[in-house]
Amino acid sequence: MIFSTSEKDIAAAADILAHGGIVAIPTETVYGLGADALDAQAVAGIFRAKGRPADNPLIVHIADAEDLDKYAVATPEAYRLAEAFWPGPLTMILKKRDVIPDIVSAGLDTVAIRCPSDPTARRIIRLAGVPIAAPSANISGSPSPTAAKHVIHDFADRIDGVVDGGPCERGVESTVVSLVSDPPTLLRPGYITPEQLREYLPRLHIAQAVVRQLPDGEKALSPGLKHKHYAPAAYTTCVTGPAEHAARCINRSAYGYRDICVICFDEEKDMYPGLTVITYGGADDPAAQARGLFTALRTADAHGADRLFVRAKAYDGGVGLAVYNRLLRACGFNVIDAQKQHMTKVLGVTGPTGSGKSMLLQLAAENGCATISADEVYAYLLPELTDDIAAEFGSDILDRNGAICRRALAKKAFSCPEATARLCQITHPAVAQAVKERLSRLQDEGTERAVIEAIALVESGLSAACDLTLTVYSEYEVRLRRIMNRDGLTREQAKERIDAQKPLDYFISHTDLALLNDDTPQFKTEAARIISRL
Ligand code: TXA
Ligand code: MG
Repeated sequence: MIFSTSEKDIAAAADILAHGGIVAIPTETVYGLGADALDAQAVAGIFRAKGRPADNPLIVHIADAEDLDKYAVATPEAYRLAEAFWPGPLTMILKKRDVIPDIVSAGLDTVAIRCPSDPTARRIIRLAGVPIAAPSANISGSPSPTAAKHVIHDFADRIDGVVDGGPCERGVESTVVSLVSDPPTLLRPGYITPEQLREYLPRLHIAQAVVRQLPDGEKALSPGLKHKHYAPAAYTTCVTGPAEHAARCINRSAYGYRDICVICFDEEKDMYPGLTVITYGGADDPAAQARGLFTALRTADAHGADRLFVRAKAYDGGVGLAVYNRLLRACGFNVIDAQKQHMTKVLGVTGPTGSGKSMLLQLAAENGCATISADEVYAYLLPELTDDIAAEFGSDILDRNGAICRRALAKKAFSCPEATARLCQITHPAVAQAVKERLSRLQDEGTERAVIEAIALVESGLSAACDLTLTVYSEYEVRLRRIMNRDGLTREQAKERIDAQKPLDYFISHTDLALLNDDTPQFKTEAARIISRL
């Protein structure tokens, strides 16, 4: 049942609440899944509907600050905060009074109390005549609801109703502060900032878990700090740092996924051509970001994105701290600093077969670079590609175990340029994707320099991921000998192999640099010089 904010509808919703039902109500922060806080059975229904762990207590909502002392032991500090910030997005943790059932506080001897400023919420609570226990009205673990349609999406008709009060004014859940701890502790940042609270609580401490991952086994001051939160379905990464660096890093790491979605600041919306872009507020407007954040996360899910990047700022105060805190949970603390990422430089090495590219790769490794060999990746992927390749070249390229015999395949595939092209059509996209995935993992790890070696660096599109590209080449005779030795071929077969490939000119004209590998100390010196240019 969807209720409007008309007198009649609100009275009906309040009546359901007064009789043990569950109704989602709008507040200035997010929608809450409400029930009579004094009715343990009704409250049990909230835990069931949300799939909420029983050890995560609920907030008790009151319509008038004067009611505070009825449900909690109010202290002078609590009164001062109520005076300053209520009605509004601040929740206080205080000693619980016995009227509040244990299920509400998850067995703790404390209770969370808040007096929301949203006029509809207050009218409903007043009319119901009881305090209302209400967690955010989302299925546990998914983004909080800032519109009635989000609640309907999560619960459909599994609750008794939702009161549609339009989009929430603030968009992030209330600030939670514990007054039972010494010093008083900020457990969850929200629209009321730590700076505002410090005017009344000069000793305010910010709980570790606000911007840090709790080490295993460490006890959370607030049970809500340890549970998984706001998680979109897609694999999510937050990217901090300057806009241009972030765009470069995201556009590059986006390779290899089907549906990539970027949630970014308003000003950055044109920096991601070809990707699905959702904005969530101006880069310098954390209040707008707070309002837009949860809708953006839900929109990304609705797109069915399988990879999500969210532009973020690592705020350490203000309203932005609330935004950053929610984002850290949404991405499971998977954050990339684009400023650092920007430092990952990639050299792409290519050149025809037998040119000695792998010698360069070895030198790069000796010089402290991370290395990726496309040929190794190919060998690794080969079992997955077996069916496609056998369908193209016939089952006589398979050995007794049904695996591809590389030599038999080479004989067929490199017999002429057409056959080579047919093989490449199967292998290039798969290898390129896998190489790019490895590269983005290296970038995630903050690797400074990486070298990719690939015979098809250009054709596979991998050169686009490189800052610098290099062709390594050798004398024809040297190449012949290398191939004969390496692959156990006759001179004729080795010649055939070389002739089936693109001419040296092709490589040189598509790369930034070229280097003759004549196996001399000069080659090594020159190679080291190129690597050091990264
Ligand atoms: O803005 C809000 O606070 C929204 C709206 C609906 O009012 N409600 C909300 O509720 O966000 P919920 O349940 O999603 O988050 C309540 C947080 C949880 O992190 C919970 O662990 C913490 O408050 N909490 C509740 N009671 C507590 C207590 N006694 N001690 C410590 N933390 C408590
Ligand atoms: Mg919640």
